[in-house]
Amino acid sequence: MKLLQLQKRSMALAGMLMTVYLVLHMLTNLSFFSKSSFSQFYNWYNSGVARWIVLILIVMSLLVHIKAAIRIRRVNAKARTVAYKKHDKFHVPATLVTASIVFLFGFIVVHVFQTLSFDPCDVYGELILQFQSVWMVLFYLAGLFVLMMHLHHSLANVLQTLGKTSMTSNGLVLIGCLLLTAGFAVIPLYIYSVMP
Ligand code: HEM
Repeated sequence: MKLLQLQKRSMALAGMLMTVYLVLHMLTNLSFFSKSSFSQFYNWYNSGVARWIVLILIVMSLLVHIKAAIRIRRVNAKARTVAYKKHDKFHVPATLVTASIVFLFGFIVVHVFQTLSFDPCDVYGELILQFQSVWMVLFYLAGLFVLMMHLHHSLANVLQTLGKTSMTSNGLVLIGCLLLTAGFAVIPLYIYSVMP
């Protein structure tokens, strides 16, 4: 039981670390609208060890998060032989939830490999090239949508654990998730539909 508690904590901690990374990543990406600031930042980021330290931290957090999630799910499934009565009007089937999480993981892996193959001296140009394809734009929008659903669901659960179940706190979480998603989505949409 103690091990399970530890895993729940490490899962939450890893999730929080990734959420902080996502906010910072989205903000630095928004500097795309000023080519010089964007290039200046990524030239610095790719010139030393910062990028590798961040990448290792994120990959480790992701693995800790997934490993703990799988274990908690298994333990819960064993403990609960009779399923909860469903009260939700729109119940999402468990297989769809699993498929979306697998897709989200696949999205992150593909994205990291894509960025690793970028020319580190021209990240700006690489992004423009990447989002010339409508399929790539759609793939990113789908990944961001699933990410938003996952983040919203997880943060609402964290709030519930902390005893915060008011409409205001839930509304703030929803607004935060929507802003984060919009901040990411604006880049592929802008490149594909506005840039010549
Ligand atoms: C449209 C949305 C996104 C764009 C335009 C974008 C862009 C980028 C860029 C330019 C890099 C760095 C490339 C370099 O340094 O050479 C990067 C790296 C990375 N991105 Fe994204 N990203 C997006 C969404 C995401 C999302 C949603 C996640 C996580 C769920 C994510 C996770 C990462 C990770 C882990 C790295 C490698 C570590 C790092 O360089 O910071 N990205 N991304």
